Amino acid sequence: MTTEGITRRHTLTGAAVLGVGVPFLAACGGGDDSSAVDGGAATKSGAELGPTSDVPVGGGKIYGDQKIVVTQPTAGDFKAFSAVCTHQSCLVTQVANDTIDCACHGSKFSADDGSVVTGPATSALAEVAITVDGDTITTG
Ligand code: FES
Repeated sequence: MTTEGITRRHTLTGAAVLGVGVPFLAACGGGDDSSAVDGGAATKSGAELGPTSDVPVGGGKIYGDQKIVVTQPTAGDFKAFSAVCTHQSCLVTQVANDTIDCACHGSKFSADDGSVVTGPATSALAEVAITVDGDTITTG
């Protein structure tokens, strides 16, 4: 066998590995989550979210358009976080049992401080500033 043959075989082997590897990498690229959203909360300060009555005590409400989730861990204590999951940027889907949940891969975040309760997410939801004026919740 000539060195040309070895070189050619190695080249073909490399191409075969690359041919197998590229689709695998494409499948792991995170493009399979159709509910993934871009960026974090993008609502400008002073935007009205809604009435406080929309946010149950011990629960919360997800404002999808604004990408903000507001919780009320205890009566009159409102908290707000980015509704964009820190794992792969899906919008969180519910607030239940003191957690903010992402259905994409099962991450759960504390409704009290946004910290990770259950992975795969490793970073807390970013806190968002809100103002409660009477019965109205606004950003900022
Ligand atoms: S995007 Fe993966 S758990 Fe939320």
